[in-house]
Amino acid sequence: MNIDKPVPEALYRRADESADELFYREPRFVAHIDAATIAALTEFYREFLTPGSDVLDLMSSWISHLPEEIPLGRVAGLGMNEAELVANPRLTDHLVQNLNDEPILPYPEQSFDRVHIVVSIQYLINPEAVLSSVRQVLRNNGAVCIAMSHRLFPTKAIMAFQELPAAQRVALVAGHLERAGFNDIAFIDRSPVNADPLWLLVAQR
Ligand SMILES: C[S@@+](CC[C@H](N)C(=O)[O-])C[C@H]1O[C@@H](n2cnc3c(N)ncnc32)[C@H](O)[C@@H]1O
Repeated sequence: MNIDKPVPEALYRRADESADELFYREPRFVAHIDAATIAALTEFYREFLTPGSDVLDLMSSWISHLPEEIPLGRVAGLGMNEAELVANPRLTDHLVQNLNDEPILPYPEQSFDRVHIVVSIQYLINPEAVLSSVRQVLRNNGAVCIAMSHRLFPTKAIMAFQELPAAQRVALVAGHLERAGFNDIAFIDRSPVNADPLWLLVAQR
C-alpha cells in the first residue's frame, strides 16, 4: 500500500502559504461531508470506541461525529477556530493550535485511547511530525483513525491531495503512519452509496 519513492517536496506545498490563522479566522458552521458519510463514520466509531475511552479529536471543529450513546471520558478538541470548538457539544476541553507552525501536541504522553483526524489530514504540511506526536500522546493499546474523503479547501490542501489519485493519497498517509512508528495499519472503505466517500486508515500505537 505504501508509496516507496520519496514524495517530491512540491507536493507538500499549498497555493495559499499565508498563515493558517487568516484562513480559519471566521468560524464555518458547516458539514464538510454528506450526512450519509457522517452517519457511516459515526457507525464506524461504534466499533472503534470502547465506553470510557479518552478521545482526542484533532483538527476539530463544531462537530465530532461521535455516537451519542457511548459514554466517553475526556474528549479533547484541537483546531484552528475557537468559536467552532466552543460550540462543539462533545468536547470536554479544547485548544487552538496551528499544527503547521507547532506540530508537537501539548498533551502529556499516554493521555488518550483514541485519536481521530477527520477530513483534515490534507491540510498538514508536516504530517509525519504531527503523527509522531499523536503516537506519543496515545496509550499503549491506543489507536488512531484518519478519516478521508474527496472534498477540500483547494488553496489550503497540500498539492498531493489535488494531484494524486485517491488510492495514492491513502497510500501516502499510510506511509506517514508507518514512518511515525504506527503498527497494524489498516485501510477500511466505508463509503456510502451516492454520497461522499469515507476512506479510513486505522493504526495501532
Ligand atoms: C474540513 S475541516 C474538518 C473539521 C472536522 N474535523 C470535521 O470533521 O468536520 C478542517 C479542520 O482542520 C483544522 N485545521 C486546518 N489547518 C490546521 C492547522 N494548521 N492546525 C490545526 N488544525 C487545522 C481546522 O480548524 C478545521 O477544523
